[in-house]
Amino acid sequence: MKIIKSIVTGGAGFIGSNLVDRLVKEGHKVIVLDNFVSGKKKNLSHHSKDNIKIIRLDISNNQKIDKYFKGVKYVFHLAGLAEIVPSIKNPKKYFINNVLGTLNVLEAAKKMRVKKFIYAASSSCYGSPKKIPTSETERIDTKHPYAFTKFLGEEAVINYAKFFKMPNISCRFFNVYGPRLNTTGQYGAVFSNFLTQKKKKRSLTIVGNGKQTRDFIHVEDLTSAFIKLARSNLKNKIYNLGSGKETSINKIADIIGGKKIFIPKRPGDPNRSCANISKIKKDIKWKPKISIIEGIERLFQS
Ligand SMILES: NC(=O)c1ccc[n+]([C@@H]2O[C@H](COP(=O)([O-])OP(=O)(O)OC[C@H]3O[C@@H](n4cnc5c(N)ncnc54)[C@H](O)[C@@H]3O)[C@@H](O)[C@H]2O)c1
Repeated sequence: MKIIKSIVTGGAGFIGSNLVDRLVKEGHKVIVLDNFVSGKKKNLSHHSKDNIKIIRLDISNNQKIDKYFKGVKYVFHLAGLAEIVPSIKNPKKYFINNVLGTLNVLEAAKKMRVKKFIYAASSSCYGSPKKIPTSETERIDTKHPYAFTKFLGEEAVINYAKFFKMPNISCRFFNVYGPRLNTTGQYGAVFSNFLTQKKKKRSLTIVGNGKQTRDFIHVEDLTSAFIKLARSNLKNKIYNLGSGKETSINKIADIIGGKKIFIPKRPGDPNRSCANISKIKKDIKWKPKISIIEGIERLFQS
């Protein structure tokens, strides 16, 4: 059997490490490129050195990363700074990390002629969209530097696909949750906060009135879509990657149970968010399998 080599940038992070698990299970040899700014060694400690190679490096500075891409078939580019509030405090840092970092990874992938390049973009590019569920053709309206830098990364990925005929795909993630969700960030996403609060028997903090909705996709559904996309013949495409279901924050809090406290809304937070996933469903014959109830049960059991 021919061994498939894949690179996962940001492979020590929440989504990246779940993707590494899946790739290893499917027989890939995986190279993880990560500077551990938010990633953790323990997210990958269950893997043997025969299956994964961890390289500690910062994709955004000018070190030679080309050599790691030799003989690599698939590149999954997930490395990035991923918090909204710090991006407002330090936009340049986010620009260098998320935009320049993406360019460096793209350049290496181009030089080594990889078979597929998949980018982790963000649904934050839609801002507060007019149409719900939101399709890929919705107007772009970035409301903070995080959204802006993730969108510029996508523009680089898609323009490289056009200019250089690279086999690139960008996936706009909605709210991803599941095991190893980052709970250490100061401005964590809703599930990270609820998970920590529930474990510490504290009240659940709800931003705004809790009536706002989000599209929560379980990381296992997301990684299965990623792998299908990698194996497909598709290129130069943008896809929404969500569950296609809209759930309010109050509903999540009710499922988890416990006291709630309400805190002020954050800048750029949309009232509603839900992905139209018709395009990806049709193109790769994929659909999400894990309901929000099952996903929450699994999360609190782990
Ligand atoms: N979690 C979500 O709901 C969500 C939604 C939309 C988009 N995304 C995107 O998906 C990707 C993964 O997100 P996550 O939730 O797993 O976050 P995460 O913080 O757990 O993972 C990001 C990983 O990238 C690494 N990293 C950051 N900058 C780096 C650099 N310059 N060089 C090398 N490694 C670097 C971090 O150490 C970490 O391991 C991010 O690009 C994020 O923008 C996530």
